[in-house]
Amino acid sequence: METPVAEATTPTPAHFPKSVLTVSRQEFDQLVLTVKKGDSDEEVPLESGLHGYVFMVGPAGSVDSPVVDAAKKIIQPTQDGFTPLYNGDGLLQRIGFGQGQARLTTRIARTPSCIADEISYEKYPPLKFNNLGITRASTLGVTTQLSVTLTPLRFAETDPYRLLISVDMGRPYEINPETLTLVQPIGYLEGAKAPETFIWKGINPLISRLMKVPFGLTMGTAHPSFDFNTGELFTTNLGRSLSSFTPWLRRLAARFPGAATGLSQTAHPERRGFFPWLLRLVLELIEWIAGWLLGFGDRVELLRWRGTDHFDHWQVVLSDGQPLKIQQTLHQLWATRNHIVLIDTAFKISADQLFPFEQSAMVEDVEKLLRHLTDEPQLADTLIYVIRRDQLEGTTTHPKRPPTVTAQSITVPRETAHYIVDYDDSAGIILHTVHSCATDASEIIRKFDDTAYQADSQKDAINDRMRSLSGMLTDGTDIDWIGSYVIDPAQNTVKTCLIQQDFCWGDPVYAYRNMTLKQPDHLDDIYWIFFGAWQELLTEHVTELYAKYPYRQIQIKGPGQTVMGITQEGRATTLCRVHIERHLSESQGLELQLTTPDAYAFPPGHFANSPQFIPRQGGDGSATDGYLICVVLFQLPGDASQDCSEFWIFDAANLQAGPKYRLCSDQIKMGFTIHTTWLPEVTPSAPSSYAIQADFEPAVTAMIGKYQRSRSPEKQQLARDIRALFDTVYARFGQ
Ligand SMILES: [Fe+2]
Repeated sequence: METPVAEATTPTPAHFPKSVLTVSRQEFDQLVLTVKKGDSDEEVPLESGLHGYVFMVGPAGSVDSPVVDAAKKIIQPTQDGFTPLYNGDGLLQRIGFGQGQARLTTRIARTPSCIADEISYEKYPPLKFNNLGITRASTLGVTTQLSVTLTPLRFAETDPYRLLISVDMGRPYEINPETLTLVQPIGYLEGAKAPETFIWKGINPLISRLMKVPFGLTMGTAHPSFDFNTGELFTTNLGRSLSSFTPWLRRLAARFPGAATGLSQTAHPERRGFFPWLLRLVLELIEWIAGWLLGFGDRVELLRWRGTDHFDHWQVVLSDGQPLKIQQTLHQLWATRNHIVLIDTAFKISADQLFPFEQSAMVEDVEKLLRHLTDEPQLADTLIYVIRRDQLEGTTTHPKRPPTVTAQSITVPRETAHYIVDYDDSAGIILHTVHSCATDASEIIRKFDDTAYQADSQKDAINDRMRSLSGMLTDGTDIDWIGSYVIDPAQNTVKTCLIQQDFCWGDPVYAYRNMTLKQPDHLDDIYWIFFGAWQELLTEHVTELYAKYPYRQIQIKGPGQTVMGITQEGRATTLCRVHIERHLSESQGLELQLTTPDAYAFPPGHFANSPQFIPRQGGDGSATDGYLICVVLFQLPGDASQDCSEFWIFDAANLQAGPKYRLCSDQIKMGFTIHTTWLPEVTPSAPSSYAIQADFEPAVTAMIGKYQRSRSPEKQQLARDIRALFDTVYARFGQ
């Protein structure tokens, strides 16, 4: 399909900036950033149209991450070659605009588990946390790392904005927009002494029973949805069966339900009599228990919060009455005027991401083998689940037996990691996305990976560059599609509009006017940053994993244009605007047309992420009347050892003109940042009634009691250490 596109300069092949791997844990208060004009070094004041506060969040390693620059607290969390750059405490950044200046304030989002991590590192080595793939764990459980999204909310228009910070694995927390400190989690933990509120269930009931720890693992939605029209926050609490984490266990579990036709009958079919009968009975029992254990625990609870202690929640079932089972993640959720939209998002969480590691060649070989045996591609299709909101009215929820709501399932070809909806669904549910085709955001480079360019004469040099980027996401293995859909749940129909440009590579992240605030009825313009294609990021493993991608458009290797050829040539990180035209007619209903009228290719060797729209103060309120700010990471020209990071600001109506301003400081070092929000003003949070002891103490007391009953002096000392540690956690939380 022909679509107009702005000229984006052709990039020269460049190396991916290692700057993405280093980050400063330094916390700043109102640090004045240097404002530079365009791509020059001329210092200028900012124009008055820039106002309000931009918030960003991303992972910033842990208390024991390898230090690169002690004076600036710069660390490289992925230096071990196994830890993904997702693994780290959330670092909040807030840029305030005013009087021609930009001032930066940063804080680590110190959850109770994050505080316990710091204390145990300093004082109690037996309780110390260690990285475990994408998680960080100790005897006390796993840390909640609030590093992914920011969601403003206010339950009445006259109230000040409140702000949530969320992640896929863990509860959302409210933060104080003024101080950036944590205020309270939303809901309490399993076992808490708080019966009148929402209790988060653990990720699997068997794991919860076996591992009664203060910091249990919960799973929800990283992007909750707040409906500013009705004052309702929607999110989910997920349960996952053990088999859902491992494709081979899932396949094994699928064998077990037909126990009598499985192993037990085929073992000795010719035998008859009591002992063969007994043997078959025992085998059937083993099969049944194994099947139950492996398949037990899949569930989705939809959660609604209206600002009081009472939460409503429902179990989501499909039209056949069976519980909805999420195979990957529910990374994102949206509320339209009449529907809740859930998607099984293309970010898989599998067992190989949780493997422990050691610094030994043998363990590396074992890990490589286990990844080969257990890893599988993300789902190639997008599984959409639509819940009518009228089902939520008139139902009374019970803490332990939630009523059910029915979701209608709709499938569209190609996978989706992020998506956006129009609030108005009167002509159908309008869903906008970029299909990150055969692009797996959960596959990261590890130090044992080999480049896909095994036949290249520069193989060793490419391998060296690639392994030095361990922890970074791998490249996509096909070109992406920009798409919009009109979904009619009543008729079960989907109208599709897809376009594509040469720069559509990698995992894109979006921005638009009013993003995370009151959702527009109709989206006219959406900005996406495409990560691009980089030779160093294309591993042999990921090209093999996606070799049989069913919607493959560009062959990985072979004659003609190939993924390997494009990636070797390189595709620049590109910021583009997608414009959506609507045509509504009686005969055809609503039809959409997409174009990409504006785009900017970042210079070679520059990587950008975390776009955020800032509305122009005194502007006309249109979808492009404002600014786009993003984080840009690069190495100094001619000095690859210097990691650099800046904020770049574009005119949202003229991206191709390049950055209008750059915000710089030799004191800051951002790494991989993720999502963002913007608020016109910040107001301190109201006092919270959250009782941290009621939340954690039942599990803490149980754990201490277990160690106190031991005859081992070490265990008894551990009990005293846990007591002292949690007393400090309670005192420090919220500071
Ligand atoms: Fe996200």
